[in-house]
Amino acid sequence: MKKTSELIAAARRARLKARAQHSGFMVGAAIETAQGKVITGCNIENSTYGLTVCAERVAVWKALSEGQARFRRIAVVADSEMLTPPCGPCRQILWEYCGDIEVVLANLGGSRKKYRLSELFPLPFDNRFLNQEKTRAQEPSTKKQRQ
Ligand code: THU
Repeated sequence: MKKTSELIAAARRARLKARAQHSGFMVGAAIETAQGKVITGCNIENSTYGLTVCAERVAVWKALSEGQARFRRIAVVADSEMLTPPCGPCRQILWEYCGDIEVVLANLGGSRKKYRLSELFPLPFDNRFLNQEKTRAQEPSTKKQRQ
């Protein structure tokens, strides 16, 4: 397991790669896998704005596409006095692919705070609901009752 300061430093370095030409708001993220490997991401904006991908999701997509599947922590670094938390869609993706990981928020001034993802995202919709639905859909009598 990496030191928290090392994970934050990795996110801070990744932040420098941000393509934040529209907002000017540069964000870096670093995910630590269960084996202690660190995979980073930065936010990438584009001229239609809506296709922007946050640093957290870039890091998750990179990690998954490299075959990583189990995660322990994510650090998020931005230059904001109020520590920058993952946005709503990122919380959903982090929950679904990383589970109840630790989320370390930090800024360039050295402030930091740790949360569990479940604190930031307390009532998630996830595949537990879809699996329930599937099970029900396979039972014609039950399905009839619920329509
Ligand atoms: N952003 C992130 O990358 N992560 C966050 O946690 C919050 C927001 C990015 C998206 C966009 O490029 C810029 O910050 C302003 O919203």
